[in-house]
Amino acid sequence: MKVLVVDDSRNDRKVIRYNFEWHGCHVVEAANGKQGLEVAAAEVPDLIISDCLMPVMDGFRFLHELKKFKELNAIPFIFYSAIYTGSREAELAAALGATAFLEKPMRPDELWDEVGRLLAAELASEREAQAPPMHEEEFLRDYSQVVATRLEEKVRELTEENESLLRLNGELERRVVERTSQLESANRDLEMFSYSVSHDLRAPLRHLEGFSQALAEEYAAKLNTIGNDYLERIRRSSRRMADMLDAILELSRSVRGKLAREDVDLSALAREVAGQLARSQPERKVDLRVAEGMAARGDARLLKVVLEHLVGNAWKFTQPQEHAVVEIFPTEWEGHSAFAVRDNGVGFDMAYAEKLFSPFQRMHGQDEFPGRGIGLAIVKRIVSRHGGKVKIEAEVGRGSTVTFTV
Ligand SMILES: Nc1ncnc2c1ncn2[C@@H]1O[C@H](COP(=O)(O)OP(=O)(O)OP(=O)(O)O)[C@@H](O)[C@H]1O
Ligand SMILES: [Mg+2]
Repeated sequence: MKVLVVDDSRNDRKVIRYNFEWHGCHVVEAANGKQGLEVAAAEVPDLIISDCLMPVMDGFRFLHELKKFKELNAIPFIFYSAIYTGSREAELAAALGATAFLEKPMRPDELWDEVGRLLAAELASEREAQAPPMHEEEFLRDYSQVVATRLEEKVRELTEENESLLRLNGELERRVVERTSQLESANRDLEMFSYSVSHDLRAPLRHLEGFSQALAEEYAAKLNTIGNDYLERIRRSSRRMADMLDAILELSRSVRGKLAREDVDLSALAREVAGQLARSQPERKVDLRVAEGMAARGDARLLKVVLEHLVGNAWKFTQPQEHAVVEIFPTEWEGHSAFAVRDNGVGFDMAYAEKLFSPFQRMHGQDEFPGRGIGLAIVKRIVSRHGGKVKIEAEVGRGSTVTFTV
């Protein structure tokens, strides 16, 4: 049996094709009524299964046209479509001479059985070839009614969907605003807390430093070597704590205040930062390569802080290198334009890379490379405030690359 399947959905055609081919039929396809007419004329199938709503020419018009051809008008024609307005379509289909109107979707075996049953019944009644074609006027009247109802139905459906989408959208927006303001206020609290804690801790720490200094100066002779060693450790620890408090203050400064959005010449900023480093460490020879024309939109003051830390790190961790190279260049990260600071310094083991963006996390010893471990944490906060991201990649002994977007 040769079956013509007419449907604008390629998938639906495929499902029907597999089903009927599996039962040994030869299947030909068309994507709309107009193509259906052409294929029907060329192939003269034994059965047509057609969708209703299709572009160019829909199923009703297809059947109506088909009935005008003597050699085609007796072919059993089964509508297989998802119904919107129910009986009215089935009525028009019957009036046009369709064998049946089946509602999509059906299980493949169900569809096959049903088609078989319909064909057998049709054969028995032997009325198909005699059905005269419907008059054009009559067809147009019924057809326009069906189409109008269907359109109304569709418009109503779309309006409802639209309304519920708008409602959902409004609700989501409201929730985002609410959550954002909760988050902002929690962040503000946290920042204020860390600011005041580090501020308030300074006074007792100053006492600790002052008195241990007095102890060292006035009573050193009365302490033995071990006592003096303990005292020195206390003093070192309190200095370290003062440094950490400074770092926390610096960190909270990087997220305070309004964020400016201006055009920033990152190339110029990078050269400025590198110049400062070179002046502060004239003994270091670093081959610095800054790409021209790097531009970003953001807060110039904060972006300078980012470069100070990144170029500063590259500078610091290339110290042992005979020929230190630090490069700052534009790049791409997940389809967004990004910037990178790369060095050929000591690098590190990538297993701990994520931790480095938290305060006080370091991979190198103080005596080897001094630092507080706050730079990358500050960089991350500033970049996040700009809506960007940052990552660090490294290999032991082969250097590091920090990439960021803003
Ligand atoms: N370019 C780099 N090469 C090798 N290791 C790096 C590099 N940048 C960062 N790191 C590792 O990440 C750690 C954290 O960096 P971060 O800038 O936060 O702190 P720091 O430089 O040690 O101290 P601070 O920046 O507060 O002076 C460093 O101690 C180092 O172990
Ligand atoms: Mg640093």
